[in-house]
Amino acid sequence: MKPVSIKLDQVSLVHANGQRAVNNISCEIGSGERVAIIGPSGAGKTTLLRVLATALRPSSGEIRILGKDPWRVSRTALRELRCRIGMVHQAPPIPPRQRVVTAVLAGRLGHWPLWKGLASLAYPVDIAGARRMLARMEIADKLFERCDRLSGGQMQRVGVARILYQQPDLLLTDEPVSAVDPALSDRVIGELNREASERGVTLVASLHAVDLALHWFPRIIGIRNGEIAFDLPPVRVTDAMLKDLYASESTVPTQGNEPLAMQPAGVRRKPLCS
Ligand SMILES: Nc1ncnc2c1ncn2[C@@H]1O[C@H](COP(=O)(O)OP(=O)(O)OP(=O)(O)O)[C@@H](O)[C@H]1O
Ligand SMILES: [Mg+2]
Repeated sequence: MKPVSIKLDQVSLVHANGQRAVNNISCEIGSGERVAIIGPSGAGKTTLLRVLATALRPSSGEIRILGKDPWRVSRTALRELRCRIGMVHQAPPIPPRQRVVTAVLAGRLGHWPLWKGLASLAYPVDIAGARRMLARMEIADKLFERCDRLSGGQMQRVGVARILYQQPDLLLTDEPVSAVDPALSDRVIGELNREASERGVTLVASLHAVDLALHWFPRIIGIRNGEIAFDLPPVRVTDAMLKDLYASESTVPTQGNEPLAMQPAGVRRKPLCS
């Protein structure tokens, strides 16, 4: 049996204002699994991902990430654990004046000795490596551009290039293509899946575009009101389940903002890599 990458046991997260964003979630994600998290706005997807990234401490319940309870290990062990986790935020927190190449190379700062990190800030130490990852995102021409001169979608792709460069054991991505056009979104999500498959690492991605989730991911977790509504392979996710999940929204969201073409689950395209 494959080792477990993520284990949540009755995990809840109540924000400081009293909002319960994650409610009693239990689930296991095996090493090398690729999981899409879908659900309406406010369902708790970002909060859950931040719990998995060890950025938020659960209010109750037990959590293990890559075999460790992040809140019961030493500071050094927590720092080491965080180096093994990569997170792509919807709006990547990249200093605006930073060059794209520096932003990508920052993915490995946690792995480098201090001198190398400082040297890289002054002069990028691995330009070829950064260019390779940006090329996978079709944005290699922006290598020396300033981040504050990029569009939202280009910034998101820089965020993905950074996590690819980081090579973490756990890839967490929070709506990584919400500002990216449909053709490129498919490319970006495809590259994330390819990365996880080839290196045998775990990928958890929250996605608003349900069609992308069903196309690329072998496991779909639907979240609503901070709880798991379903946890199924894509072929078993029915239109009724999707309608129910997004009951408060007028349509099931897709890449192109068009209603998802409702088709029998069995004929949906299968992920290209597994
Ligand atoms: N920092 C915060 N403080 C207080 N409440 C918060 C905070 N962040 C999120 N919430 C609340 O927690 C609930 C879940 O929010 P979350 O951002 O996790 O949802 P989401 O599924 O990611 O939504 P979206 O699809 O819009 O990104 C919402 O009711 C939200 O208002
Ligand atoms: Mg969110």
